[in-house]
Amino acid sequence: MLTTTENERLTQVGPGTPMGELFRRYWHPIAATGELAERPTKSIRLLGEDLVLYKDRSGTYGLIGALCPHRRVDLSYGIPEEHGLRCMYHGWMFDETGQCIEQPFEETVHPDGRFKEKVKTTAYPVQELGGVLLAYMGPSPAPLVPRWDLFVWENVVRDVGVTVLPCNWLQCMENSLDPVHVEWLHGYYTNSLLDPQGRPDIPKRPNLEPWRVRQHGTISFDLFDHGIIKRRTFKAGPGDPGTTTADPEWTSGHPILFPNILRVGSSFEYRVPMDDTHTLHLVFSAYAMPPGVTAPVQETVPHYEIPAFAEDGTCIVDYTLGQDMMAWSTQGPIARRELEKLGQSDVGIILFRKLLHDQMDLAARGEEVMNTFRDPVENQMLALFQEYQPGGDINRANLWVRQGSQYSPVVPQVDKIYADALG
Ligand code: FES
Ligand SMILES: [Fe+2]
Repeated sequence: MLTTTENERLTQVGPGTPMGELFRRYWHPIAATGELAERPTKSIRLLGEDLVLYKDRSGTYGLIGALCPHRRVDLSYGIPEEHGLRCMYHGWMFDETGQCIEQPFEETVHPDGRFKEKVKTTAYPVQELGGVLLAYMGPSPAPLVPRWDLFVWENVVRDVGVTVLPCNWLQCMENSLDPVHVEWLHGYYTNSLLDPQGRPDIPKRPNLEPWRVRQHGTISFDLFDHGIIKRRTFKAGPGDPGTTTADPEWTSGHPILFPNILRVGSSFEYRVPMDDTHTLHLVFSAYAMPPGVTAPVQETVPHYEIPAFAEDGTCIVDYTLGQDMMAWSTQGPIARRELEKLGQSDVGIILFRKLLHDQMDLAARGEEVMNTFRDPVENQMLALFQEYQPGGDINRANLWVRQGSQYSPVVPQVDKIYADALG
């Protein structure tokens, strides 16, 4: 149980808050590169700030304050120029540093005037990696954009799925430190949807299959360089010998990357705080090919929406991530942790909260926080482990592929590649 003040410290992400300042030490994915190819501007809310992401005609990306400094209109309606974004209201133009570089009428009246030099708006650096645009809002010099393995693997098919959730980022992230929920929320709950004695009233897709539930025996959590490793054993059950501490679920475990990324199968799930009560949930996937197969060329990495809510506003719970999103969002805009009752299944959550407090303290002292990178050699490829490696063997790789969202535009294509390869 936390005090209200402790809960606020963990959940408030605006400028000047301890958690907001910690998050400003990391690069955050904000859009798929393909989105800006289709439309040159995108409204962005990130860490409590309203911004506009744009791509100018020379291909430079900028992330600047949403409202024009002149008369405060929304620059997401602006015009991309060769170098910069022009406000559509009176034509002032801004470059990616936020500097005003043209003021047409002012320059007509005062050809030698220096007004524009005094006008500068908020601006943050943007970089592209693997089909994703990432932004950094912290102090200079910025660390390197982490080159996690799935972003730099060759011979893969990638996609980016996004959901905007009406809840605080920490609810999503604490779920990743909670292995036991898998057994219940995804296992027994899925089966209850199919059970006439359970919740057959809840809508489900026709091809929903029962879940082979494995009961947890032991859970454990360890700090490592990039975050926390989650370990577990499963009890023996009907037709299932269970696992021990000699099995990969324990010896390798499963990585959670500090502060807001889960690695699962061939994907990273990013929980990007838009503000205190909204989270951009971004799933970046890289599907490895079967041995001997060359991945089809992707001109752009496709992006798609992963829906959390049906038209009537109820949560969509007939797939794994939908179930997770239901659990996160129904805790409320900001979960009232002062009312919770933690048990033994929550030791990972407790460890994560302590780590967050420790790292907030480091950021407040201006020290380097964990899981940031400044050495280009180390950052060539940040290889991760997990209990089973995607692409490790063809059947296992295929299993991971099938964990991709049912909404992904590339999973059917990848499934077909595997079906053909497996004969
Ligand atoms: S409001 Fe943007 S140029 Fe006037
Ligand atoms: Fe889950």
